Amino acid sequence: MTHTIAVLPGDGIGHEIVEQAQRVLSALGLDLTMEQAPVGGTAFDLHGHPLPEATLALAKRSSAILFGAVGDWKYDSLPREHRPEQAILGLRKNLGLFANLRPAILYPQLANASSLKPEVVSGLDILIIRELTGDIYFGKPRGVRVVEDGPFKGEQEGYDTMRYAESEVRRIARVGFEAAQKRNKKLCSVDKANVLETSQFWRDIMIDVAKDYPDVELSHMYIDNAAMQLVRAPKEFDVIVTGNIFGDILSDEAAMLTGSIGMLPSASLNASNQGLYEPSHGSAPDIAGKNVANPLATILSAAMLLRYSLNEAAAADRVENAVKAVLEQGLRTADIFEAGTTKVSTSQMGDAVLKALN
Ligand code: IPM
Ligand code: MN
Repeated sequence: MTHTIAVLPGDGIGHEIVEQAQRVLSALGLDLTMEQAPVGGTAFDLHGHPLPEATLALAKRSSAILFGAVGDWKYDSLPREHRPEQAILGLRKNLGLFANLRPAILYPQLANASSLKPEVVSGLDILIIRELTGDIYFGKPRGVRVVEDGPFKGEQEGYDTMRYAESEVRRIARVGFEAAQKRNKKLCSVDKANVLETSQFWRDIMIDVAKDYPDVELSHMYIDNAAMQLVRAPKEFDVIVTGNIFGDILSDEAAMLTGSIGMLPSASLNASNQGLYEPSHGSAPDIAGKNVANPLATILSAAMLLRYSLNEAAAADRVENAVKAVLEQGLRTADIFEAGTTKVSTSQMGDAVLKALN
């Protein structure tokens, strides 16, 4: 069966990094059709909307989406519904991509890139699972209104709603437990149950779902402590499962432990394993079009696409091994360059990965 892959490069460095990942996907001898469509600021410029109907329709009928990055300062003054970020939020919501997998792996060849001491991070391999379609990101009501009573009566206030339905917590809990079963069998659920009702509810459900996974050790941590433990002793973690807003913050922190956000892929999956795959980094408009961006996070995202949406684990291994091989050869884009290595461009990095595929 031919798989259709929606290719949505987006803005900034999106095009150049996605192009390298497409070259890699095409070289694997699989039956794939790739169809490209505009998204983000680029789509707003062309069609007046960051997520045009046709782009959403393509995404919906695809097995998987390869996404670059969206955003540029020049769109910062647009009303919220037209900003590039709405494209990614709209894709998550419309496709039900509730499970966001963000691995943070420190490649041994890049041990010096971290701002933490090598002994704290060497061998780091953790997985953050962030719930992606609920929480304060999407909770209603939200908006600006007049305060009805209390000390701020009569003033305007901005408000959002944190909420999770039981089934939303159960399904992300299962993703967490199942991922932990395939790894070191440790799952840490992060919440703020000492303060928030939503978090206490989340925690109670985690404990209930845990009954189905007696082989996994479940622990709980408050978000503030988790943020601290992540820089104190990150290797204590195996899999972290958390809600949308806490996961947004913790995954950026975890990414930086590796010192090389240009290396980290991500997957956002729905109940039928349809997925959106994107690098963890942004659109970096300052270096766009210069052929210097690191394409490896996007290439590794393509590997996740093969593994999770196409069930092509062997092909995914080939891609991941090729990335390790080019690092071993000492090839580095500017973001991970250090003395004694060889600096290469975006397209040269793509060439090297293609050559290293076997
Ligand atoms: C991310 C980003 C998005 C988020 C923004 C761009 C809406 O920060 O994917 O982590 O907050 O989820
Ligand atoms: Mn984020």
